Amino acid sequence: MNRAPVWLALAICLAQPSWAGAAAGSTAVSTAGADQAKPLCAACHGAQGVSSIPAIPSLAGQPKVFVENQLVMIREGLREVPAMTGMLDKLSDADLTSLATWYAGLKLDGPAGSTAPAPVTPQSSARIAAGATMAKQALCGTCHLPTYVGQSQVPRLAGQHEEYLQQTMILMRDGKAVGRDSIMSSTLRGMSDEQLRDLAYYFSNLRSF
Ligand code: HEC
Ligand code: HEC
Repeated sequence: MNRAPVWLALAICLAQPSWAGAAAGSTAVSTAGADQAKPLCAACHGAQGVSSIPAIPSLAGQPKVFVENQLVMIREGLREVPAMTGMLDKLSDADLTSLATWYAGLKLDGPAGSTAPAPVTPQSSARIAAGATMAKQALCGTCHLPTYVGQSQVPRLAGQHEEYLQQTMILMRDGKAVGRDSIMSSTLRGMSDEQLRDLAYYFSNLRSF
């Protein structure tokens, strides 16, 4: 699959002067669209960016640049999210930046927002240990940071929904995650479904740092 045009399109998009103006937070730019969109987003991603639906990612505490990039990709149809079709069409670059800044500032505490400690069983401890070892061996932390809270264009994994992480990693490994950075398909290549399950379990159970 040829990913180059995707990145080219994004790079061109990000290089536009209108985007730069929006990112600088010029007071002349209205972000009313973002405020109008928030209740719509809340239906799926939660009122405070913490999703209660296992297949839908939480956005709270995601790096601003990651959310901003994904919103541009989704709006332009480069990353396909059928559930969000048309939803970002009327939003300006300034609106997307405003939404990204807002979500980045929200807090994600435990697994999918729950602060209750995960029940520990010998089986769950073994899976967490297996996931932690694999993440270390595969150097996931070099990009996602050793605490897995993400940085810049690299997403946060800590506290994300297990089901979302697992499904996403399977798609990435199999080269089926259209519009997403091909770096992840090469990183996950060769991993078994079971290994991806353990990784997802480990990350989803990580607490905030
Ligand atoms: C009907 C449900 C629904 C609504 C409403 C919705 N989304 Fe989404 N969104 C999803 C799903 C499902 C995904 C994950 C798609 C996938 O598997 O790649 C997603 C993914 C995302 C992502 C990428 C997150 C990541 O970790 O990769 C961002 C950012 C996002 N949505 C922002 C928004 C914003 C902002 C709004 C409001 C304007 C919104 N969404 C409205 C269902 C929804
Ligand atoms: C070289 C840097 C790099 C390494 C190493 C890396 N990642 Fe990533 N990862 C990224 C980037 C960049 C993205 C955003 C991809 C995109 O959508 O364009 C990402 C996205 C993801 C996502 C999607 C999250 C979401 O919210 O949509 C998951 C899950 C993930 N990585 C897991 C892992 C795991 C597990 C490892 C180790 C086996 C790993 N990554 C190693 C850079 C990296």
